[in-house]
Amino acid sequence: MNVIPEPSVFSDDENDVIGQFLKTGYIVFPVENLDSLAKIRRSLYENSVTLLKPNSLPADTEFFDNAQKFIPLERLNEIRLSLIDCLNKDPKNAALFYSLAKKHLSWIVGNEMAIQRSYNLGIQLPQDSSSVLPLHSDVWSGNSPYEVVLWTSFVDCHKTKSMYLLPFEENQKIVSNFKKYSSMNAEQLFLEIENKVVWLEVPYGHAVIFWHGLLHGNRVNEEEKTRWTVNLRFKGLLTPYNAKELGEYFMPLTIRPITRIGYQFQKPKIS
Ligand SMILES: [Fe+2]
Repeated sequence: MNVIPEPSVFSDDENDVIGQFLKTGYIVFPVENLDSLAKIRRSLYENSVTLLKPNSLPADTEFFDNAQKFIPLERLNEIRLSLIDCLNKDPKNAALFYSLAKKHLSWIVGNEMAIQRSYNLGIQLPQDSSSVLPLHSDVWSGNSPYEVVLWTSFVDCHKTKSMYLLPFEENQKIVSNFKKYSSMNAEQLFLEIENKVVWLEVPYGHAVIFWHGLLHGNRVNEEEKTRWTVNLRFKGLLTPYNAKELGEYFMPLTIRPITRIGYQFQKPKIS
């Protein structure tokens, strides 16, 4: 990918993050506001308590880690969709999620952004094959290449409890030689690249920003505890959209005044 132009106007920290993102297509970083993370996690827990009544639930950490003991597999999708509904209905969540990664998003995406309207919650119980997301690239199915995913975890994630992705350089090798792989299904392609993918190590209190043009997915969670994550897309407000458009899929997050004025500008009519 293009190197950073010289002379750089960026700080050393900013340069490091930009360099890392351009090289690999992702970063793992400490969230910028732990209180916001705790608030989102708390409301996920409280909404779970309401949804799973009359069963009584243990304290939040025990519940999240061992959700397989408290959420019957046959109710998993219904509970997940209800929790997504709760996330979508709380207008404070956009600001809370944004505060987790405001600086890193501004370094990678810019300071005028659109945010995905709907939150995507993943609950991956141990040994549950119904939650597997096969290898894919979002850019091949309607998202534009100008978008990143903020992947927020509410528990420690590692190995198969986490997600995998194919870093940028290896990803480009697949794309540039795609004829060779085009007849493979997702599983066959995964087996082909299995030894090149990175399983993200994301301790609680960290998050990931990744380019969803990278091949990525998850496998059956072979670890002992449950994964809870939310993914949410951000893009430059004025960068090109694909099938996922501004209005229906994205909403403006940070419009600066001159852009508002520019949007409304009409050339004076002379007749
Ligand atoms: Fe994806």
